Amino acid sequence: MASPGPDAASFPLVVEAHDELIGETLISADKLQARIAELGAEITKDYAGKTPLLVAVLKGAFIFMADLCREIDTPLGVDFMAISSYGASTRSSGVVRIVKDLDIDLADRHVIIVEDIVDSGLTLRYLRRTLEPRSPASLEVCALFVRADNVLDDLDLRYIGFEIPPDPFIIGYGLDVAQRYRNLRDIRVYDGD
Ligand code: IMP
Ligand code: MG
Repeated sequence: MASPGPDAASFPLVVEAHDELIGETLISADKLQARIAELGAEITKDYAGKTPLLVAVLKGAFIFMADLCREIDTPLGVDFMAISSYGASTRSSGVVRIVKDLDIDLADRHVIIVEDIVDSGLTLRYLRRTLEPRSPASLEVCALFVRADNVLDDLDLRYIGFEIPPDPFIIGYGLDVAQRYRNLRDIRVYDGD
């Protein structure tokens, strides 16, 4: 019998080996998966019998969406929306616009917005203003990361994966700088400006 190869996770991705801007690991892949399993279990319980519609915000939330939906043990739908609030840097441009709208009608659906990270809350406030008039039966938010020191009470975040410190810009697990680093397995600190 052929011997099984080493665990894929023990190989550094090439992108990691050649990029000194990829800083320390803030949250490991294992911790991400464990917390996402908990979120999925909560959503399974809360939406029993309801067929929720998960709406992910591209591109940052695509990996979170893929993992979260597989931890939810109830019938559900998925749809995607692309919104742009940042340019090619780590600084907010303050501009939010719809790059791709949803395909599915939200009327009478139990909608859960799946977001990667809530920073200032600008993006999510815009999303709520845009989606609430479409008459969903309910509209909740599941954010994988929230910056701890921001005052976001008005956003009413129902599910939060991790509170993270205000300072480091983070990359990996879908999160980018100028479209790079989304394929890192862990959440890493970005060591650039
Ligand atoms: P907000 O509109 O200020 O809440 O910013 C939310 C969006 O900014 C997220 O959906 C991300 O696309 C992006 N963002 C904010 N902080 C980070 C970060 O640390 N790493 C990667 N993207 C971030
Ligand atoms: Mg985003």
